[in-house]
Amino acid sequence: MLGKTQTKPIIRLVDVYKEYRVGAISTLALKKVNFQISNGQLIAIMGPSGSGKTTLLNMIGLLDRPSKGKIFFDGVDISRLDDRTLASLRNTKLGFVFQTFNLINRLTVFENIELPLIPRGIPRNLRAKMVLEALTKAGGEESWLHKKPNQLSGGQQQRVAIARAIVGKPVVLLADEPTGNLDRASAKTVVETFLNLNKAGHTVVVVTHDPEVANCMDKIYVIRDGEIVGEFPPKKSESLISKE
Ligand SMILES: Nc1ncnc2c1ncn2[C@@H]1O[C@H](COP(=O)(O)OP(=O)(O)O)[C@@H](O)[C@H]1O
Ligand SMILES: [Mg+2]
Repeated sequence: MLGKTQTKPIIRLVDVYKEYRVGAISTLALKKVNFQISNGQLIAIMGPSGSGKTTLLNMIGLLDRPSKGKIFFDGVDISRLDDRTLASLRNTKLGFVFQTFNLINRLTVFENIELPLIPRGIPRNLRAKMVLEALTKAGGEESWLHKKPNQLSGGQQQRVAIARAIVGKPVVLLADEPTGNLDRASAKTVVETFLNLNKAGHTVVVVTHDPEVANCMDKIYVIRDGEIVGEFPPKKSESLISKE
């Protein structure tokens, strides 16, 4: 029988600890976290400020290495990879969206979106096609391409940032408080884009402290003091948009 595509873990954290040291002060930001994300999932991670959400997302996104424990990406133990291989894995398989957009203001919108494609040696005409396709998918408009990011509104800049995150067709899209700086209408557009990307097959992980955003996802994990303390179904009646 052909059922739903078999979900296999794309990212797996096993007994992960993360300690930050600043001078004599040490902070244990993640404590023995066991967590996995399957292909095609649409999940939210919620928790109070300082609970370890960004640290966890940085681990999931292979932006940082754990102090202790193991991380597997598509079955590969990332501690076996050197920094260059890890960077290349991140560049090809993962896309990132941040609260503050993190666009480069001296580059045009086109050049910002094109950035992840440069190290891949993709020819310019194909890059142009991919950039426009990504911007359209992210809810943006072709007329923005030659503008500078600071000529756009916050909501528009976040659409450009999403286009940059998806232009390389990543397996997993990771977003850290993506709606934190946006008005409700722009937040809604961003969430709708994530839902569409998930329908198109991308795995989506959103860190948020906004319950209306979290309730749009399929599953909500709660983190507190560096530990995942629960897993909850979303309350669709309290979501930013209704999803059939
Ligand atoms: N680079 C860092 N250096 C030192 N401490 C940090 C660093 N990043 C985060 N922390 C600390 O780790 C804990 C978790 O932080 P973070 O993951 O940013 O939480 P959240 O995203 O939920 O607000 C906090 O106590 C924070 O102060
Ligand atoms: Mg954070």
